[in-house]
Amino acid sequence: MARFVVVELERNSPKWTKVIDEIVRIEKKIFPKHESLARSFDEELKKRNSGLLFSEVDGDGDGHVAGYVMYSWPSSLCASITKLAVKENFRGQGYGEELLKAAIEKCRTRRVHRISLHVDPLRTPAMTLYKKLGFQVDNLIEGYYAPDRHAYRMYLDFESN
Ligand SMILES: CC(C)(COP(=O)(O)OP(=O)(O)OC[C@H]1O[C@@H](n2cnc3c(N)ncnc32)[C@H](O)[C@@H]1OP(=O)(O)O)[C@@H](O)C(=O)NCCC(=O)NCCS
Repeated sequence: MARFVVVELERNSPKWTKVIDEIVRIEKKIFPKHESLARSFDEELKKRNSGLLFSEVDGDGDGHVAGYVMYSWPSSLCASITKLAVKENFRGQGYGEELLKAAIEKCRTRRVHRISLHVDPLRTPAMTLYKKLGFQVDNLIEGYYAPDRHAYRMYLDFESN
């Protein structure tokens, strides 16, 4: 595995534009248009209650993005994982798991009771990863992504706060 660190993208970071540009490129490759945040990343992230972590490979200040996870905490009770993706050539090496674990920890520090997310049941690697880290299926939401594309809502409850 290439050397990597999980980094939080800070609002005033000099890396902001470079990182967002890289993420938008990855996003466009991986997700169909209606599922993509490519056009709204900047806006989403400027909201006060959202955050983005990314895996930076071969760091030392001039690294590249191998994957990213976005999360938000719309209320003091509940947080959401709004996006998780790893570039194809970096998959199967632990990046996704490290990102998701880091996002869960960020949400835990917000003292929310529950983290929820939506995932297309056909995305087997993602479903398996979410289950591995303790997420359970809540229910199926028909037509969530498109008329013929459904989503599972999944959740992870924290035992005590
Ligand atoms: C889901 C995704 C982020 C996983 O990233 P990754 O870096 O390849 O995952 P990791 O190497 O960290 O694997 C961690 C766990 O995920 C699961 N997993 C990963 N790839 C898998 C695969 N091809 N099949 C089944 N399970 C898989 C396994 O549980 C694995 O744990 P294990 O190694 O102990 O078996 C990546 O496949 C991806 O970007 N997919 C496309 C985008 C997507 O579906 N995002 C989620 C919906 S928003």
